[in-house]
Amino acid sequence: MKIGILTAGGDCPGLNAAIRGVAKTALLEQQMQVLGISSGFLGLIENEYFEIREKHLSGILTMGGTILGTSREKPFRKSANYMMEIDKPEIIRRNYQKLGLDCLVCIGGNGTMKTAYRLSGLGMHIIGIPKTIDNDVWGTEFTFGFDSAVTIAAEAIDRLHSTANSHKRIMVIEVMGHHAGWIALYAGVAAGGDIILIPEIRHDDEIISTYLKQRAKAKKEYSIVVVAEGIVDGSKRGAATKIAKKISKLTGLETRETVLGYIQRGGSPTPMDRILATRYGAHATELITKQKFGNMVAIQHGEITAVPLNMVSDRVRTVPEKHHLILQARNMGTCFGDKLCSSLN
Ligand code: F6P
Repeated sequence: MKIGILTAGGDCPGLNAAIRGVAKTALLEQQMQVLGISSGFLGLIENEYFEIREKHLSGILTMGGTILGTSREKPFRKSANYMMEIDKPEIIRRNYQKLGLDCLVCIGGNGTMKTAYRLSGLGMHIIGIPKTIDNDVWGTEFTFGFDSAVTIAAEAIDRLHSTANSHKRIMVIEVMGHHAGWIALYAGVAAGGDIILIPEIRHDDEIISTYLKQRAKAKKEYSIVVVAEGIVDGSKRGAATKIAKKISKLTGLETRETVLGYIQRGGSPTPMDRILATRYGAHATELITKQKFGNMVAIQHGEITAVPLNMVSDRVRTVPEKHHLILQARNMGTCFGDKLCSSLN
């Protein structure tokens, strides 16, 4: 069999581990031919690819980024002058055929799974692997990239505690996550955030300021506020600045903000992400061998499984309001901006 692999959408730690999981299993266990498609779906439009051999896979398990490159190319998206536009999906289908591929492995997030599902509708054999720091792909409990982003964010928040304590300040830190609050929730709980603001829970500025004033009154000499970028409708940035300004104005307390940004997407994957990405890659090749196309690999209750692409496409997995971490954090006095917490002693 001959398969192609592409990585699409925002990059994250673990992509190379997933590529390695697919390709090593395909080359060594199944004697398949493996093509690496460059820059996501753009590579199949522009016919940019190379044959992956074992030598390309050594040393990449721990490497950040993707050896294939990525892009946010959305072949099915129509631009304004779509009448003039080339038919990108048809070009992809034709190049897939010309390359003689038996299957295309698409490693990506929501947008990638949506494109993958639509390409499978054109008769292409597709397997999806869920990747993103946002952890917001429906059908799986975890995407690889998420654990690395949480680790980076938690380490950053740990550092903010010491400087906030020295200056008796309110420190606001903005983390990524697109429209979901998974990184803010996990990193906030892991690093002892006093307030955690996520898009899934509507926050009230008065409640936030009252809670911080209560803390100050109870001689809690500094506070850490973790905000997901998605709490600011639409725009990708500005959440920390908006919240810090509001806190400073409403409480009179000295406040500073930090935007963690792309640091959450860089560097070597954590061991957990390496393992999850490897498990996903190996399972993807197993599905190909069994010709179970049209599926995305997933992890549910600790088991690696497969979910049909048509169930994943066009859905975002957001944080449930009654998520166990939220309930437990609330019981420990963490404020989510929607109601005042247990009284501060
Ligand atoms: O989807 C991953 C992500 O990092 C989001 O958390 C963030 O909002 C977005 O990508 C940034 O997009 P770009 O890399 O195109 O600036």
